[in-house]
Amino acid sequence: MIERIHLAKPRGFCAGVVMAIQAVEQAADHERQPVTVYHSIVHNHTVVDRLERGKGVSFVEDLQEIPLLPHSTDTVVFSAHGVSPAIREQARTLGLATVDATCPLVTKVHTEAKKYAAEGYTILLIGDSARHQEVIGTQGEAPEQTILIGVQGKVGGGLHDPRTVQVPDPERLVVLTQTTLNVDDTRETVAILKRRFPALVVPPSEDLCYATKNRQDAVKAIAPQVDAFLVLTSTHSSNGMRLLELSRDLCGRAERLETAADLAHIDLTGVTSIGITSAASTPDDLVQEVVAHFRALNPALEVIEQGEWENIKFRPAKKVNLDGSQEA
Ligand code: F3S
Repeated sequence: MIERIHLAKPRGFCAGVVMAIQAVEQAADHERQPVTVYHSIVHNHTVVDRLERGKGVSFVEDLQEIPLLPHSTDTVVFSAHGVSPAIREQARTLGLATVDATCPLVTKVHTEAKKYAAEGYTILLIGDSARHQEVIGTQGEAPEQTILIGVQGKVGGGLHDPRTVQVPDPERLVVLTQTTLNVDDTRETVAILKRRFPALVVPPSEDLCYATKNRQDAVKAIAPQVDAFLVLTSTHSSNGMRLLELSRDLCGRAERLETAADLAHIDLTGVTSIGITSAASTPDDLVQEVVAHFRALNPALEVIEQGEWENIKFRPAKKVNLDGSQEA
């Protein structure tokens, strides 16, 4: 029986996710036509499902699908993960107004990619998958000058090994990263690259975002105190899957779930204390349902909120019309 739960703080929604979801909700409430989002607005099935059912929002993986939708739209929302310049151009060509819900911390990495590419650098972009939307978007800023690098052990599928990657000019190299990677693995990967290419430029402020670091720190603090970890995340959430790996490494036992219903398939035999965390795109009511499940089994359950909440907010996204005019 579970006697004690440590709820990690921070967990769940980050400022970028809050901003992105609000952008879609606001567009859905104010646009005359149904709103379409390019890619999942954030990587969580429940969030997407609620927007589809509750707000009539459609999600596409190809802007060409938009004219084929039953109610075609003239406004598309770009997801929190960001898009390449080619997608922005395609939206213009299709005559779509845009709401850019890209997280500002992803936009910052795009800005760095553009700057270094213009100065003739080759960009070593560390990512967890060549197919992740954020990696695709950042790479799209300078596709000819970007080489994708995997964090330790995760290479192949378009990701090069930092220990063997070949570069055109070792004197003109910069390293950038996806925002949601494992902090320690990323540092180690940058260190390997720096040893091989001493002239490598490492931008002064890290690309890993505050939400990724803080959620990983919260897991590190709780892991020694619990028998097992539960991580509420969809499989395609990069930051969530990193939390799962980290808690498994530190705790030895960690399980992924999307909702409390998944507990039916999780064996917690012998476990009396658990840590719970959730991806930056997981709504907190899903975490509360998990807690309620264990409380129903044990009314004396002790629940400890451990850590500190963040206090970061991002400015709302604006709609940009085809003529370049903006609407709040
Ligand atoms: Fe942005 Fe980090 Fe959240 S990049 S969307 S603040 S997980």
